[in-house]
Amino acid sequence: MTINEIRTKYLAFFEKRGHTIIPSAPIVPQNDPTTLFTGSGMQPLITYLLGAPHPKGNRLVNSQKSFRAEDIEEVGDNRHTTFFEMLGNWSLGDYFKKEQLPFFFEFLTSEIGLDPKNLYVTAFIGDEKNNVPQDTESAGIWKELFGSKGIDAEIVAIGSEADGYRLGMQGGRIFYYEARKNWWSRAGVPENMPTGEPGGPDSEVFYDFGTPHNPAFGAECHPNCDCGRFLEIGNSVFMEYVKMPDKSFALLPQKNVDFGGGLERIAAAAQGNPDVFAIDVFTDIIGLLIHFSGKEYTDSRYQRSFRIVADHVRAAVFMLVDGVRPSNTERGYVLRRLLRRAAQHAQKLGVEHGEGKNSMLVKCAVNFIEKYKQAYTELGSEDVYQMISDEIWKEEKQFAHTLEAGMREFEKVAKAGHISSDDAFVLFTTYGFPFEMTLEIAHERGIDVDEDGFATAMKKHRELSRAGSEQKFKGGLADTSEKTTRLHTAHHLLLKALQMVLGPTVKQRGSNITQERLRIDFSHGAKMTKEQIAEVEKIVNEKIREELPMIRSTLPKDEAEKLGAEHEFGAKYPDMVSVYSLGPISATVDDPQFDKAFSIEFCGGPHVSNTSELQGPSTGSGQAPFKIQKEEAVAAGIRRIKAVLQ
Ligand code: ALA
Repeated sequence: MTINEIRTKYLAFFEKRGHTIIPSAPIVPQNDPTTLFTGSGMQPLITYLLGAPHPKGNRLVNSQKSFRAEDIEEVGDNRHTTFFEMLGNWSLGDYFKKEQLPFFFEFLTSEIGLDPKNLYVTAFIGDEKNNVPQDTESAGIWKELFGSKGIDAEIVAIGSEADGYRLGMQGGRIFYYEARKNWWSRAGVPENMPTGEPGGPDSEVFYDFGTPHNPAFGAECHPNCDCGRFLEIGNSVFMEYVKMPDKSFALLPQKNVDFGGGLERIAAAAQGNPDVFAIDVFTDIIGLLIHFSGKEYTDSRYQRSFRIVADHVRAAVFMLVDGVRPSNTERGYVLRRLLRRAAQHAQKLGVEHGEGKNSMLVKCAVNFIEKYKQAYTELGSEDVYQMISDEIWKEEKQFAHTLEAGMREFEKVAKAGHISSDDAFVLFTTYGFPFEMTLEIAHERGIDVDEDGFATAMKKHRELSRAGSEQKFKGGLADTSEKTTRLHTAHHLLLKALQMVLGPTVKQRGSNITQERLRIDFSHGAKMTKEQIAEVEKIVNEKIREELPMIRSTLPKDEAEKLGAEHEFGAKYPDMVSVYSLGPISATVDDPQFDKAFSIEFCGGPHVSNTSELQGPSTGSGQAPFKIQKEEAVAAGIRRIKAVLQ
């Protein structure tokens, strides 16, 4: 079964069950500064999971383009990819466990044709500290589902992953694990969740490939064992909790289902081969690489390189089409790293190297475009095809120059028989020679590298330049970029300042924040004068200097409205809402203190904790960090401002 067939079947299956098919959001998150890339299907839907009504209803289904930078280092084994498609179905306060688990079970067994004997499942063991009970309901539903196929499914308790390696299968089919395995939120376990973040217990399905257990991973095998026998193919998150300011958990206004299934992994299960690189989208590319390198895919010296080239080029194609370009910062840097790593491994395979359209990476990219352009029509145009080919070749050429110079320097410093942190640092920052390559080549030659020293030097470098580098490879909330967070807070200051200067009729009509700048669209009938712009800048900069605290509160919607909290136009909100105020607000409207806040907005965050953090490192007191770069019309009665923190 091809991934196109599986995707189509999945969408149709849920459409038949009352779901509306929604398109994949771009891989670059829109208006979500928490991560560099969309890493799961729920991310673009966060506001709806928190209670805002979705315009397409409360049953949704899609296949989301996802990218997990934290998995870059893992690529090379038989299961990890950086880019993947996450099949998702959502209940936004509609159905829950007793519908969701049978849906997925039926999909796997009837539509995909998986033998239920090869399926193993997990459920949440419970968390007394956070007052979340054991998910006996899911375990019970699974027991019945397996029973309906004549399988007597034993329910057994495991606990932690370490417990799993000790306790093993215990004859079970349904396994209870603790939060590290069976709780899902963007931030991970309950303790790591920031205030206002939604999450909940989950239930995962694993496919058993029947390969023998590899005791290198632990004494006993269990579903969450990493030996390769079991592959997680889907996760139903029962998202009904939200983290409160006092660190406790409250129920969300609605019970949601957030299901995520790895399309490539389901395809691997469907063909009974645990190697995700053996599925249809990769076979041509691997074939091309075999042809042009003369190496065998099964050769253990080269298999990792085959997989890295295939994975990284595919990810690069999807990044390029969504607007990312190779650069030295943020997303562009991740893309650069993918392409350069792919080039390096193509070299390692010894592929015959062509130019332009004949470059190996471009050939692979073109093949991926062909495979995906039907499902992702944005890949279909001649312009996009040209752009992707050109960008990849341009980056390859540039990398070749960089490598030559870097290799010469590497050879020089490697003579010492040891790579110091300074050497590695200079190779990276001056020669653009990836640290990872320093490590890999040094490793191959048995030369030592001072990794800790390099990390320390990089940390210092980051603090000085505020450029950030390493955190780009982490996913989830760890990615919350300092720069976008600061701009997000500046955005609140700006909206209020606009209302003060242009009048209270100014309302936000759209926004977009990148690492470099913020953008706000707002209702206003005329071009702003120079004086008005200067006045707005002055107010924002004053508030930055005043070092106002940014405070998050959760309160009833009508109370927030009475406080005059700003809404996004047209959005609907749940009964309990999160608001951010610059300066304290009182929980009761009658309190005369409430108007102490400079601005109050309905908002999920994240924000800095004090406006003093908007002061750049080089802007001492007296200098003005906030600057409006552009003010223009976007539509009748709607103006757009782009602004930066310098
Ligand atoms: N959001 C869940 C995940 O990414 C489904 O695993």
